Amino acid sequence: MQGSAARPLKSRRCGPLRGTVAIPGDKSVSHRALILGALSVGQTRISGLLEAEDVLNTAEAMRRFGAQLERHSTGQWSVWGTGVGGWAEPENVVDFGNSGTGSRLVMGAMATTPITAVFTGDGSLRARPMARVLDPLRQFGASYTARDGGLMPVTLTGAAQAICIDHKVAVASAQVKSALLLAALGAPGRSRIVQDVLTRDHTEKMLAAFGADISVEPLDRGEVIHVMGEAELVPCAVEVPRDPSSAAFAIVAGLIVPGSELRIPAILLNPRRTGLLQTLLEMGAKIVIENERESGGETIGDLWVRASALRGVDVPPDRAPSMIDEYPILSIAAAFAEGETKMHGLEELRVKESDRLATIASGLRASGLNISETADSLTVEGRGPEGVPGGSRVATQHDHRIAMSFLTLGLGARDPVSVDDTSMIATSFPEFETLLRDLGADLQLVNA
Ligand code: S3P
Repeated sequence: MQGSAARPLKSRRCGPLRGTVAIPGDKSVSHRALILGALSVGQTRISGLLEAEDVLNTAEAMRRFGAQLERHSTGQWSVWGTGVGGWAEPENVVDFGNSGTGSRLVMGAMATTPITAVFTGDGSLRARPMARVLDPLRQFGASYTARDGGLMPVTLTGAAQAICIDHKVAVASAQVKSALLLAALGAPGRSRIVQDVLTRDHTEKMLAAFGADISVEPLDRGEVIHVMGEAELVPCAVEVPRDPSSAAFAIVAGLIVPGSELRIPAILLNPRRTGLLQTLLEMGAKIVIENERESGGETIGDLWVRASALRGVDVPPDRAPSMIDEYPILSIAAAFAEGETKMHGLEELRVKESDRLATIASGLRASGLNISETADSLTVEGRGPEGVPGGSRVATQHDHRIAMSFLTLGLGARDPVSVDDTSMIATSFPEFETLLRDLGADLQLVNA
């Protein structure tokens, strides 16, 4: 978020949070709806699209690659795509801002079309590893150059004569898997992609809805996905469900602020995204899930959250893929629990918008908590509902989820907590501040 002025904010202990929270659309599903729209011929209608910076950057990128997009009203968009293999070469550098998902998925989507594009992003994105996507894309026949071997700016040239691949994904990443699935659409023959860990499967589900020939079979460990190339995707209507990773902040705020009671309707409950809910329930959280139903090919449900006495738990490493973005806010819940919470299998947190393991640990230490951190684990010594000191100024390292997590901590801590910047919250959840204030949260701007 380099370049935009910092916007520090302070949160302090408040009375009970009450009300209904309208969480915006899911970020993962929103990116994919735009990209698959651009990969099909004709009009794709999207409702509930998340209008946050990351997704708007993907929308702009789709225009640069030749799609037409129209915003009809809030969250209601149409995309007119040019089809698999039909993308145009962008005239200029394509800037993805803060978004790892947008940039990596689009790299995959263009890698089997013979065009060249230059990808860049903000300071955070330019520090994140891209070789994990670009190296496997070379097997399709694509080629690239990157700064220091794997950092943006990246110049990617799609394969002139793409070939299908048989590949095992080396990292536990839905972004890498999805990039390969999208590239496979343009390569003659059937590609086979294997992954050991079950990362989010929105790309697979949406590809099936757009008429791709795709199958997923379980393995003893992980699963194998087959995708037929030279695909002709058929546009469809996409209803974007509400984002569980954004709901997570309201859920934990409701749990830690005494007397709170919140209703959070129509949240995406894809089983590969519900690791945080499972963990909070194990911690003793009073969360009731009602009215589970299908919407747009995904399970959604309404949540009721009441302030709860939490206890520390062990979070096993195999849960990490289903809550990879939720460890910052889980660590906040852990601070208000009785006893220790140990989280394992966190190596991927080191390469997110910041080194999240280090950023969480230093923010919690600054807020008076005892923490221990290894290369891939974090242990938080809980202080109980009344015992979190706070009184900190937290360095967010330009990371939206760190900013929202520590503002949440301040709502229950003894002394106010400020974060050095909140401007980057707009990348994923622009309504965060307003929604929390509407529930009764005390958030105040501070002088930089
Ligand atoms: C995402 C996958 C995850 C997650 C990110 C969104 C996606 O990243 O952290 O916020 O939409 O595919 P990785 O797949 O790299 O773990």
